[in-house]
Amino acid sequence: MLSLNNKNIILGITGGIAAYKSAELCRLLIKAGAQVRVVMTQAAQEFITPLTMQSLSGNRVHTQLLDTEAEAAMGHIELARWADLILVAPASANFMAQLAHGEAHDLLTTLCVASRSPLAIAPAMNQAMWSNTATQQNLQTLQQNGIHIFGPDAGAQACGDIGLGRMQEPQQLAEQSAALFETGVLAGLNVVITAGPTREAVDPVRFISNHSSGKMGYALARAAVDAGAKVTLVSGPTNLPPPAGVDFIAVESALQMLAACEARTADIFIGVAAVADYRPAQAAQQKIKKSHETLSLELVRNPDILATIATSNPRPFCVGFAAETENLAHNAQQKLQNKKLDMIIANDAEATFGHDHASAIALWMGGEETFTQQSKEQLARCIIELIASRMQSTR
Ligand code: C5P
Repeated sequence: MLSLNNKNIILGITGGIAAYKSAELCRLLIKAGAQVRVVMTQAAQEFITPLTMQSLSGNRVHTQLLDTEAEAAMGHIELARWADLILVAPASANFMAQLAHGEAHDLLTTLCVASRSPLAIAPAMNQAMWSNTATQQNLQTLQQNGIHIFGPDAGAQACGDIGLGRMQEPQQLAEQSAALFETGVLAGLNVVITAGPTREAVDPVRFISNHSSGKMGYALARAAVDAGAKVTLVSGPTNLPPPAGVDFIAVESALQMLAACEARTADIFIGVAAVADYRPAQAAQQKIKKSHETLSLELVRNPDILATIATSNPRPFCVGFAAETENLAHNAQQKLQNKKLDMIIANDAEATFGHDHASAIALWMGGEETFTQQSKEQLARCIIELIASRMQSTR
């Protein structure tokens, strides 16, 4: 899945007929989780209106270098610092020439000179202009300067010519932009995370569940996305919005959670969900009436999702969580062995459930690491780092 989660992208548009495709590109970048600010040259505005790009990006479009109003809101240096990536699509022959020579005479060229972020351009021009010696020399300079060149494609051109010079399609440009960020510790790996409680139906209106908020699992999903992983979050009912950039699967019961997990292939499996250990043997078809003084419910054991995944073939790197009320390290060590896990994260159930902060001990065969009390977001990032380094040393 395409992920540009939390990435700030300046989408530069120069004057060329392919500028109409920049609207779709902007939409795709945002859909992948990026914040987009659009910068248009004078000529670009002849092809597509700033209003279109403002509506799609949700931000004011920047067109002027010396604009007192714009400088008061987000000046050009601030804008250059804000960007994690500058993507210029389409990039005209004229723009390439200016960029190759370090010119800074309008807002877009100035941003390119002022920014330390990666810069990618998607050239788009007539095939004769593309093959022109000066353009090819500029291209070489840009490549030598570390600028990423996306395309161009070959094919039919707006002017009727056929050849090299078509701008790459928006989907391809969005994918290549995302690939530039795939440098995290989990880059390219599939991670499946379970989170939240499960609900085990007693009858159509009642269920057995627990107090799990899902906060830790959701924080881990965000941290794994930021580390470059492709993340599937299989979640029981929580009050949290699905994190951006994850493949989100909502489930209710333990059996549904197990089925969703088994349907995915994972390089890393992290079981954070507080799965109900038992479910009613038979959920009543109709609402149970209070006609008797006592009521007995027969419960049957739920499958252990984590232990099931840990014995699957091929087997992912398996990480469990153990929320304990006593003998934290000892009980967690037992679970590490019984469930045949690669790592277990143990924490105090009462101090963890529903809270925004937690401390934890990570245990694996032959080692451990203690994490002091900190926000679950912070703790999640530490755990992801540790998983990546343990995985590397065991495989
Ligand atoms: O045995 P216990 O429930 O304490 O183990 C906790 C760990 O096992 C957690 O990682 C939890 O997500 C996982 N688990 C599971 N399926 C169950 C019970 C626990 O995946 N039925």
